[in-house]
Amino acid sequence: MANNIILCGFMGCGKTTLGERLAKHFGMELADTDAEIVKRENRTIANIFETDGEQYFRNLETELIKELSLKENLIISLGGGLAANEVNHPYLKTAGKVILLDCGIDETLKRISGDKTRPLTKGGREDIINRYNARKPIYSKVANAVIDTSKDIESVVLEAISIIEDIL
Ligand code: S3P
Repeated sequence: MANNIILCGFMGCGKTTLGERLAKHFGMELADTDAEIVKRENRTIANIFETDGEQYFRNLETELIKELSLKENLIISLGGGLAANEVNHPYLKTAGKVILLDCGIDETLKRISGDKTRPLTKGGREDIINRYNARKPIYSKVANAVIDTSKDIESVVLEAISIIEDIL
């Protein structure tokens, strides 16, 4: 198994923010799967979904995590659907330790409803709740640790550092 630290969880749980903080703290490189896909495709995620469909995006995610799982010393921040897709679990397990971030459904709704940049928030409140509930057990299958990210960011960063120091 490689020594990367992988952050997974639903949209709005704080993967990108925490990833940036942890990369700085540990002096590790950050790989953000959404940002990497946007860079490679040279277009937004909304555009990829609209033009080529969700499955095309999911295939890009699988190719990318396959690639990243062969690297070392990365903080990997995943798009919300990546660890919800069980096809990717073997690559995640090879890539390193997975930390699940979860701020709870009420806080998730506050953070992401009405978001215009994420294609999967368009279905509204009920759709977000259903997706959150359906994904939660799938994220749990691959997670080595869980952090409640409804707390303030400084406590979340401290907890994450302590978990990582324990599992590395
Ligand atoms: C998605 C989450 C997004 C992005 C895409 C699909 C999902 O990432 O990958 O819009 O399926 O949950 P964030 O979790 O960073 O918003």
